[in-house]
Amino acid sequence: MSRHASEERRWWQDAVIYQVYPRSFADGDGDGVGDLAGLLARLPYIASLGVDGIWITPFQPSPQVDQGYDVSDYCGVDPLFGTMQQFDDLLAAAHALGLRILLDVVPNHCSSEHPLFRAAVAAGPGSPERKMFHFEDWPDRDTPPNNWQSVFGGRAWSRVDPSSETDTQWYLHLFSPEQPDWNWRNPAVGDYFEGVLRFWFDKGVDGLRVDVAHSLVKAEGLPDAASTTTVTDGLRSNAQVSDQEEVHEVYRRWRRVAASYSPERVLVGEVNLEPARAARYTRHDELHQAFAYAFVKLGWDAVGTELEAGRREHGASPTWALENHDVVRSATRFGGGERGALRARAGLLAILGLPGGAYIYQGQELTLPEVDVPLEARVDPMWTRGGVSRDGARVPLPWTVAPDNAFGFSPSGAAAPWLPAPAEWGSRSVEAHQHDGGSTLHLVIAALQLRKQLFEKEVLLSDDGGTWRVEDGGLLVCERNDQFLVAVAMGDAPVRLPAGDVVLSSSPLSAEGLLPPDAAAWVLRG
Ligand code: NOJ
Repeated sequence: MSRHASEERRWWQDAVIYQVYPRSFADGDGDGVGDLAGLLARLPYIASLGVDGIWITPFQPSPQVDQGYDVSDYCGVDPLFGTMQQFDDLLAAAHALGLRILLDVVPNHCSSEHPLFRAAVAAGPGSPERKMFHFEDWPDRDTPPNNWQSVFGGRAWSRVDPSSETDTQWYLHLFSPEQPDWNWRNPAVGDYFEGVLRFWFDKGVDGLRVDVAHSLVKAEGLPDAASTTTVTDGLRSNAQVSDQEEVHEVYRRWRRVAASYSPERVLVGEVNLEPARAARYTRHDELHQAFAYAFVKLGWDAVGTELEAGRREHGASPTWALENHDVVRSATRFGGGERGALRARAGLLAILGLPGGAYIYQGQELTLPEVDVPLEARVDPMWTRGGVSRDGARVPLPWTVAPDNAFGFSPSGAAAPWLPAPAEWGSRSVEAHQHDGGSTLHLVIAALQLRKQLFEKEVLLSDDGGTWRVEDGGLLVCERNDQFLVAVAMGDAPVRLPAGDVVLSSSPLSAEGLLPPDAAAWVLRG
């Protein structure tokens, strides 16, 4: 089947999606927090990049303990971000600009303010309401039912009411105590979430990103985990906490729901597992995609092959991401300073040329570095519970060179932004990039234009695979087909590229035509 014939069915396979973290994108109403009105006003900017769609992280009603990942109403809009009418307008405007919209669904846990959790607390031990969550009795009221650790630090269990003599139950929360975990072994939970999916799909939302997709179902009987070592490894390495066989049934059901719509809706999983295990979530009747999540955490290293191989085994294309709102910005992760920025730019150009889909996190097109947010301004619950702070990747986007109104993030007269920006933010702003022909913003626009043309000419195909190798001098090469390759110079000296026309590079080639270190190139052959 040609790409054109199958386009409707598989648009997501090579889609480039721009991730919007709404509270930090653009503030429309002047309260210092980004919102749907701000996003609507800035939609033309996103469209001008040439991306295929937007993933918007949670804006549903929430006490905001985990910046929206503690949802108290899955089918609403938090007044902090706007109204449902504004969401409907945003969806229509995005579609008119040719942009698909993906939302975040958070099915592992909700907010302790969710009506069903409140009802469960009120109904008491032994009630059907409590069976929607993991409430457990334990003879010793000071000891939790098992040794599981929260991803945010401390134990993963809290007492419902530590002062009560009659209600001595504990409830499970893999994240903060304000985020109780749903009990996915209760079929009523599955039915409830099918309703949530249908609510947004009926509106015309094009797809969902599934939060903590691997952890919904816990090991039967909630046995002790083999290790309680670290916060984040609690999810990744403990077979009891995540990656249960039964979770795949959840995604088979969700795939059937997604496929019952026309066009088919897409499901993208945050599957925080090693690549071979993550690949099992994208088998033909489960999620459409899962982030190449390990790649997000890598340093500047010539890897890639094995990340992709597992996914191909099951027929799914990889979904590349170098950044998101949870990890240190790539310019800082890749060494910081000038060199880190060059590498971040090269990494971004590389993933836009690799086979499969790619995600760009807002600000990545500006090569924003991680911000060292002052201690007193940090709000991330991971930080306040003793882990690392993710605030540094969430500082509001700089739009203007001038510092007024939080570098153009807010309208005039607005409250201070919810996280402070560093003094030099203006030199990294959208405006600064627009005026600099050699900026990363211009590179991204050129890359996405060229990518589109190469697909139109069928030089690139959705399913053209790719072979990987590392050449002498640390040149990582992904040969996508016999006409196109992506090369990344990961060594310390300039390197000669394979023969062909260099159609785009993240840094200028030397006079001898060599690719300098910390740069990437797209090469057309033959
Ligand atoms: C992953 C989200 O990306 C992160 O921001 C959140 O804290 C956790 N899941 C819990 O929902």
